[in-house]
Amino acid sequence: MARITASVYTSHVPAIGAAIDLGKTTEPYWQPMFQGYDYSKQWMKDNKPDVIFLVYNDHATAFSLDMIPTFAIGTAAEFIPADEGFGPRPVPKVIGHPDLASHIAHSVIQQDFDLTIVNKMEVDHGLTVPLSLMCGQPDAWPCPVIPFAVNVVQYPVPSGQRCFNLGQAIRKAVESYDEDLNVHIWGTGGMSHQLQGARAGLINRAWDNAWLDQLIADPATCAKTPHIDYVREAGSEGVELVMWLIARGAMQDIAGDPGSIRVKNRFYHVPASNTAVGHLILQDV
Ligand code: DHB
Ligand code: FE
Repeated sequence: MARITASVYTSHVPAIGAAIDLGKTTEPYWQPMFQGYDYSKQWMKDNKPDVIFLVYNDHATAFSLDMIPTFAIGTAAEFIPADEGFGPRPVPKVIGHPDLASHIAHSVIQQDFDLTIVNKMEVDHGLTVPLSLMCGQPDAWPCPVIPFAVNVVQYPVPSGQRCFNLGQAIRKAVESYDEDLNVHIWGTGGMSHQLQGARAGLINRAWDNAWLDQLIADPATCAKTPHIDYVREAGSEGVELVMWLIARGAMQDIAGDPGSIRVKNRFYHVPASNTAVGHLILQDV
């Protein structure tokens, strides 16, 4: 049986990818941010998963206003890093896991969630920056990755509650896969940031940290956070945080084993470009 044993949460910002790719991680602006991931990079080596189920959002790269899937699962054998305007990032291509991805698609759709099946897709900073933060600059990513794209760009976007429920369905799907696989689920994006309009540059440390506390300790209540609260308190792009609730919903304590999770790392740093960077690792006991 495959099992989800840990979840990882992290912001993504294109400038973080550029800082890594251009060798700027030790510069004074960036060093305090990257230092928050030192423990996590070692943790990844010590707790290498067989597969990462990576929940992220596409930023009008693979999708556009032409086509807006709410939830899209990548079932391809590989996913190429996209050119987002400065050439593709010099990072390894992403190797998928078509068999587990199709199994999850089948199971989750049977559990009444509508997923779009994606057999060809390029992946943008939403997916590659979290991998770089957690894995550094390897020649190949440590394991296959199943990309799971969530629309948090074009309204209407899914609620936190729906994302949380979907995480629980994904856990059931993984646990009904026969092969013994150690799966990690990642929720990415956030925390507070707004890239446009009169409130561009908005950061809300107090709200972000209270939300993190609740995500860890009382995720069912956190899932009820109304959509408008994300936008008002964490900025228009802060709504990326609903993706963290997919990963949180997939953890073992939600499945009925309270006390089964441990916080292995928690980090918060402002600023990285226009974004408040948040990071968590939750692992089964
Ligand atoms: C920034 C943050 C994002 O989440 C994003 O997708 C693009 C840019 C930023 O802070 O610059
Ligand atoms: Fe983003």
